[in-house]
Amino acid sequence: MEKVKIKSYFYLTVTLTALIMSASQGCKYENEEELFGSEEECEVTEISYQGEIIPILDQFCYSCHSTAEASGVILDTYVTLKSWADESLYCTISYGDGCDNMPKNQPQLSECNILKIKTWIDEGALEN
Ligand code: HEC
Repeated sequence: MEKVKIKSYFYLTVTLTALIMSASQGCKYENEEELFGSEEECEVTEISYQGEIIPILDQFCYSCHSTAEASGVILDTYVTLKSWADESLYCTISYGDGCDNMPKNQPQLSECNILKIKTWIDEGALEN
């Protein structure tokens, strides 16, 4: 009787250990997939002013740089934005030397958003 009990505890322990190990491996796999997935998400092959640039600026810049704010730097019209794109726009978001870091008093843009704006500028900052 005693022998049977010990045996079943042994099997129970083995089964539990196997379950715990596979569960934690599952987690690790999911995390890796998540990381990999977010790297893949930065799609810069077809960047357009309407599709990618306006939404980024709307979220992080227009609050201080819209026509309505009437500040010196207006980023919500194409013509004024284009002139900043030819000047210090990339410098500000990439925290370059000789310009202010933007968005002011807020965390730096994500690498992907910076890359999107850089790509748009490199392709001529078109009104596309
Ligand atoms: C909290 C307010 C605020 C936000 C948000 C903000 N800025 Fe600015 N930004 C300023 C102020 C203030 C200045 C100083 C010039 C002025 O009066 O507009 C400035 C200046 C600039 C300049 C010219 C300065 C230079 O050194 O060449 C650029 C370009 C600029 N911002 C781009 C951006 C971009 C791009 C974003 C969004 C990613 C952004 N800003 C978000 C407040 C802000």
